[in-house]
Amino acid sequence: MGRLSVFSSLPRRLEGKIALITGGASGIGECTARLFCRSGAKVIIADVQDELGQSVCRDLGPENVSFVHCDVTDEAHVQDAVDSAIARHGRLDIVFNNAGITDDLHPSIVDNKKVDFERVVAVNLTGVFLGTKHAARVMIPNRNGCIINSASVSALVGSTVSTHAYTCSKHAVVGLTKNSAVELGRFGIRVNCVSPFGVATPFSQKYAKMSMEEIEKAMSSMGNLKGVYLKPEDVAEGVAFLASDDSKYVSGHNLVIDGGFTISSPSPPMPETEV
Ligand SMILES: NC(=O)c1ccc[n+]([C@@H]2O[C@H](COP(=O)([O-])OP(=O)(O)OC[C@H]3O[C@@H](n4cnc5c(N)ncnc54)[C@H](O)[C@@H]3O)[C@@H](O)[C@H]2O)c1
Repeated sequence: MGRLSVFSSLPRRLEGKIALITGGASGIGECTARLFCRSGAKVIIADVQDELGQSVCRDLGPENVSFVHCDVTDEAHVQDAVDSAIARHGRLDIVFNNAGITDDLHPSIVDNKKVDFERVVAVNLTGVFLGTKHAARVMIPNRNGCIINSASVSALVGSTVSTHAYTCSKHAVVGLTKNSAVELGRFGIRVNCVSPFGVATPFSQKYAKMSMEEIEKAMSSMGNLKGVYLKPEDVAEGVAFLASDDSKYVSGHNLVIDGGFTISSPSPPMPETEV
């Protein structure tokens, strides 16, 4: 048997799983949809960007991926997205509550508008609450399931480059992850979140008004771990780990994917060492 055929005969880690990904039309969500498909899952992308979502489906094959229009701030949409997964596949094993936005950065809180604050909280927090609620509704009867939420390094530290709304919403996602993990553990449902450092995606590109390359360089200079750039694929790998049986006893966990950024404090530069 050739090298390739040995690998292709190995069981894939999400074989036969049914996964719903909010915000799956772009960035980290899209990348996760691609990885989930390669890992054997059937994916439902739930997003407000219909054309983009449908083009990802065409690319990955309609037998593997389907699209449902869903604004995560609207409970009827989230309910429909979950119900359409059940109607199509008979069950739902994984929900990745990934859809997220930010508002524009205003250096002073005095210039921040309530309407912008509430819009960000509605998507980043209420959307995760609704996704968790409707995932639980269909997972509890099966006594099984896996929910993963998108937090951020902004869930752990304050910063002058993240907005108040974004930082608050992401801190709250960690709280919701812990609270729902506590409640749903008795039904065999695991709830975790991922907290990435800055990744070059359409989201960060729009926010920072930089090219993908510029974002990667800026993040690398701000980051702790040198010599590598954080990619959407790295976040998708973390999500796939939390979605798979490889993490079967992990619940209520915040998987921080930040190269040590949030555990480092400002310190004088280290002397150059020869290696
Ligand atoms: N890119 C980063 O640097 C970074 C870092 C840490 C955390 N995150 C988080 O990762 C998640 C994904 O971000 P990304 O960088 O891939 O962004 P992205 O903009 O590329 O993708 C986000 C997707 O969410 C969708 N979306 C937005 N509002 C929605 C709504 N109301 N209902 C349904 N879908 C909606 C968008 O259409 C888009 O397809 C977000 O929660 C973000 O906060 C991103």
